[in-house]
Amino acid sequence: MALKVRTVARLVRAGHVRERLRAVRDGQAGLRAGTVRSALGTGVLAALRPGRTTAELAAELAVTDHVLLEAYLRTLEAAHLVRTAGGRHRLARRGRAVLGDDVVRAAYESFAGYHTDLYRDLGHQLRGGPARDDVVRHGDVIARLSRAFEPLVHDTLESAAATTRPRHVLDVGCGDGTNLVHMLRAAPASRGTGVEIDPAAAALAEQALHRARLEDRAHVLTADARGLAPRQIGGEVDLALLANVIYYVPARDRPALLRDIGALLAPRGTLLVVSTMADRSVFSRHFDLLLRAQAGEMSLPTPEEVARDLRTAGFDVMGVRRLARGDPLHAVTARRPA
Ligand SMILES: C[S@@+](CC[C@H](N)C(=O)[O-])C[C@H]1O[C@@H](n2cnc3c(N)ncnc32)[C@H](O)[C@@H]1O
Repeated sequence: MALKVRTVARLVRAGHVRERLRAVRDGQAGLRAGTVRSALGTGVLAALRPGRTTAELAAELAVTDHVLLEAYLRTLEAAHLVRTAGGRHRLARRGRAVLGDDVVRAAYESFAGYHTDLYRDLGHQLRGGPARDDVVRHGDVIARLSRAFEPLVHDTLESAAATTRPRHVLDVGCGDGTNLVHMLRAAPASRGTGVEIDPAAAALAEQALHRARLEDRAHVLTADARGLAPRQIGGEVDLALLANVIYYVPARDRPALLRDIGALLAPRGTLLVVSTMADRSVFSRHFDLLLRAQAGEMSLPTPEEVARDLRTAGFDVMGVRRLARGDPLHAVTARRPA
């Protein structure tokens, strides 16, 4: 029904119409994200893989308030996650898609989780409350979400492998080993080393090598990448990757880390620094704030700061590239002089 002119005029006079609309739209986006996150967190979506009645679902999830559960299921139906017919609840197509894609699940878990909790707790933290520990507590979700950018990082690795034709590749802070596996595939004549400070992540990287049947060509060293000597990683490397690690290192310590990586490279060896970097986009500003709110002096560097730190560490900077338009993920390519 079209609104009367008089009603529109009243709405306009009542307040700031554009901001009211924006507030409602933003609020509803928050509600949508919260709905999906809760559907994952409560286990409702996973429990509805086989269709269930409300009573069966309540028994499965130890729910005692059936009336509230019914209202919740109606909300999930309105969000197109669940479909209810003949007294049985099933996953709707969207519910299946969310459950079936780990990056989608990680996105909802993180954006409706610690990314928004930051702002809820910020007032307290600004007045001296404790630093956050999301990077430690949600390291697994952060790693799962970073898989969203995998194709972009892998394209960059393939180009670097094609130009450097490496015999030995190194992944510094290799996490679950996905990029190391990709480097080895992109450079079939190479052997590889992953260095990872966190034993749990190093174990995942070893499993990834095993699954990819690459354990004969590569190994993972559980160690701090700082201060390593080439003999500890099986000799000098021709291509090294530092992906999504630089922002965990305090700004003043970055040149030293880069110099230590340079000491592992053969003359004219290439280092690729891939990272979300600081720019003026809302996400970059937000991520930088989230990092600065953690314990441990973390922050996003600008691409220029990464290039400057690489030069300070003795590298020649070959190029700085944004990996996708509108996204703050960048790659900086540097070479150790001959
Ligand atoms: C966000 S994860 C990125 C993992 C992987 N590079 C990727 O892009 O998927 C950062 C990883 O760097 C590791 N790391 C941080 N500082 C390190 C250091 N000094 N030496 C070795 N690993 C380090 C962390 O344990 C973590 O697994």
